[in-house]
Amino acid sequence: MKIFNLKVNHVKNPIGYMIEKPIFSYLAEGNGTKKKRARIVVSLSADMTDPVYDSGWETDIDGLAYEAEMQLKPCTRYYWQVEAESDAGDCGKSEIAYFETAKKDESWKAKWIGCEENGGRAPEFLHEFMLFKSVKSARLYICGLGLYEAYIDGIKVGNEFFTPYSNNYESWLQYQTFDVGDLLHSGKNKISVLLGNGWWKGRFGLNRDGRPDKLYGDKYLLIAELHINYEDNSEEIIITDENWKWRRSSILSNSIYDGEETDDLSVNEEYYSVILAEEPKGKLTARLSTPILAMETLDPVNEIITPKGEFVLDMGQNHSGVFELRIREKKGTKIKLSFCEELQDGNFYNENLRTAKAEFLYTCDGTEKTVRPHFTWFGYRYVKIEGLTKYRKGDYKGLVLYSELIKTAEMETGNELVNQFIRNALWGQKSNFLDVPMDCPQRDERMGWTGDAQVFAPTACYQMDCRAFFKKWLYDMYEEQKIRNGGVPDCIPACGQVNSSGVWGDACTIVPWVIYDTYGDISVIRNQFESMKAWVEYIRKINGNDGRWKKVFHYGDWLALDSKNSDMPTGATDVGFVAIVYYYHSVCLTLKAAKLLGKKEDEDIYGKLANEIKQDIVNEYFSPNGRACISTQTGLLMALYFDIAPNPEKTREELRNAFKENSDKLVTGFVGTGILNSTLSQNGMNDLAYSLLLYEGYPGWLYSVKHGATTVWERWDSLDENGHFSSTGMNSLNHYSYGAIVGWLYRFVAGLKPKTSGFKETEISPLPDYRLKSVKASLNTAAGVYKSAWRVTESFGLALDVTVPFDGKAYVYLPYASEQTYMQKTAFTANIVDTEKGRACVLTAGDYHIEYETTVPMRKYYSIDSKIGEIVSDEKASAVLQQAIPMFAMLPESIHGMTFRELAAIKPQAMPSERLEMLNHILMKL
Ligand code: BGC
Repeated sequence: MKIFNLKVNHVKNPIGYMIEKPIFSYLAEGNGTKKKRARIVVSLSADMTDPVYDSGWETDIDGLAYEAEMQLKPCTRYYWQVEAESDAGDCGKSEIAYFETAKKDESWKAKWIGCEENGGRAPEFLHEFMLFKSVKSARLYICGLGLYEAYIDGIKVGNEFFTPYSNNYESWLQYQTFDVGDLLHSGKNKISVLLGNGWWKGRFGLNRDGRPDKLYGDKYLLIAELHINYEDNSEEIIITDENWKWRRSSILSNSIYDGEETDDLSVNEEYYSVILAEEPKGKLTARLSTPILAMETLDPVNEIITPKGEFVLDMGQNHSGVFELRIREKKGTKIKLSFCEELQDGNFYNENLRTAKAEFLYTCDGTEKTVRPHFTWFGYRYVKIEGLTKYRKGDYKGLVLYSELIKTAEMETGNELVNQFIRNALWGQKSNFLDVPMDCPQRDERMGWTGDAQVFAPTACYQMDCRAFFKKWLYDMYEEQKIRNGGVPDCIPACGQVNSSGVWGDACTIVPWVIYDTYGDISVIRNQFESMKAWVEYIRKINGNDGRWKKVFHYGDWLALDSKNSDMPTGATDVGFVAIVYYYHSVCLTLKAAKLLGKKEDEDIYGKLANEIKQDIVNEYFSPNGRACISTQTGLLMALYFDIAPNPEKTREELRNAFKENSDKLVTGFVGTGILNSTLSQNGMNDLAYSLLLYEGYPGWLYSVKHGATTVWERWDSLDENGHFSSTGMNSLNHYSYGAIVGWLYRFVAGLKPKTSGFKETEISPLPDYRLKSVKASLNTAAGVYKSAWRVTESFGLALDVTVPFDGKAYVYLPYASEQTYMQKTAFTANIVDTEKGRACVLTAGDYHIEYETTVPMRKYYSIDSKIGEIVSDEKASAVLQQAIPMFAMLPESIHGMTFRELAAIKPQAMPSERLEMLNHILMKL
């Protein structure tokens, strides 16, 4: 048996993370179909001879998340190992993994230090020290504000960017722990730390609470402890204190939005004494942030001289990152790099970055070297280079920066435009998951807008393993709530965006549930339960007895095309309705969480509250017969998706009509689009869901692909037909929200959904449509790799392939299968059960294949639900019909927009049900 993918708190071999109780996870593969029992042992020694925890052999040692009851010591490395046995008697042991605790409650001996330079110029702090013995191991515990990069003897400590990361600094400050044993040596050593502004000070955020240059602080600050263990087992600690020095670095200015200016002629070797600084307000806390790394590199795919004569490199892909540039220029040469997402009329164009300068200025000292910015990143595909006289291929390398997230999903369909969109959605995630799920990576915003994150989270958690990433964000969310009576600010961290509104703040209940559902670790619900409750109680208080929540400011169906006011595009769906329905949803999720955690009292409270709100919604927004008063696409979608429609059949009909009236084109914004296709597929309108997906014009997902997008756009028409930016006010080409459709592709088109949280048991219920031809999806879940693939066969039936991992189980619902298919004696159909959702083939670990004739042909066909005009315009179909039903030739053009079913409803005498059935039969055979 092979046991692999060992993680603690969902991080591989974490050092210095916030770990109260370790949560172990792993995967196993072996002979047999499932795990019979397992055992986890934790030891203080690498050879496992000093055990401090032994679970014993148990049947319920869950590979998704096993929380061990153990007290952890500070600054200690623990080693751990898993043993398991399968139902076929196959046994195995994992390799030894480790985790290392941070300082926990140990007090800091180091002091916060600062300097006299607190403007834009980056200071460098420095300390030289002698070591007289040989070093066995060493750790650096460090936090520098705003951002820091530490070096020992000129070598960068670790490979992370933008430490100590972004969170509500007034509540907590993350420190990182680095293993620096290999960087130290006996003799003279030098530690230096470069500090930048980052999110701490300077310009960041939209509304800075009247503090334009001071979001959190106004001084550069540093604290660090270097713990050294010598070979003779003695210890020494080197701390930041008054013995450190500082100097002005050659980084003249730095800002996340504006970029960086470096002047290597300005190098200043003058050192000054540091200032002992006041401790900042936030509590120093062990890190939770997933490291931001250079996860990929990109080389320019094209060197362009634009019509205006600009020298521009095309990286071939819109992304977030910095670069390394080889410089071999004369002393004093000034170089300027500017960044943009798209060329306009072939020229460089960055107006949509608004006030963000996003540039890198560099003055050369005449030596050949590689330079890069330190405290900023750029959201770009194109870079304009000015001032460089010598450029060789290979001189420019793009470092793609994002939080260390592992890709977990793969999908290929029979439509190349759809495939490109799937790639774009992944790039949308890569570009915007830099410690915080941001709205966009390029303009003067780059903030953790909760609404965007909420809409995209289900897709994000399929595409990449986001467990640790969201854990930090949700922890920060609760920290923000604690200082706002439970209110969730529109951005996390708030960065001045302190308003709370519906849909956005509801991320607080929705995201934890998505994480739990996708990954099966209950600790996220346990950790966030108080936060969920606080949010619901916050709304309850505002709502009072007069429904005031509906009247406070909300973004509604943001950017919907039915918006009346382009300056405040909240959509035509009543914003109060949107807010109250999300409030209801949040209460339902809090109720589910209470049930899961066995909190009886809360279960009663939120069960009652949910019923009351639902009743209020029904009374206010539906007629006594169940007609929806909110008749927009988004309003009707919400009524069905959140299960509030008192007469769902009627609402479905209204929804179908709402689309029909708009020629089957969407007008939805953030709210409607996030739930659009899932709701259609779940309510018998899968054909419409596919039509929307495959529509190549405006508005639709493929419109952007047809216009060369490599990421997902903020607006349906971010670029117009001529490739011009439709506006510059709020128009990014790298917003992930509309990428949420990819979640539907996995969950409905490929049909992969968790049946039990974390995919231990999986529902596979693909909903094919001949227009897509085929789908091949693979999902590397917390419980192993599930695969689902379908393709239309030559005889217009279906071929299905399914893979179930070891210790997994799938309930496969065969689409359009007849009785005969279930009778086929194959491994696929050997074990059939009746479930609430219909008949399912139950499959254990293995690969399965089935081919069958479907009850409806997997090709274009007509039926009584096709538009009459469509049939008339098909010569062959029209001829056959005229023969079968002579009156067909006489049907007036005015009814071409109708279907035969609709015609029969108005004229039952002309079209009795037997005739309708016969007609359907003829049409389907065409
Ligand atoms: C952001 C959005 C965000 C919105 C709030 C915009 O500027 O880019 O994506 O959710 O503001 O409505």
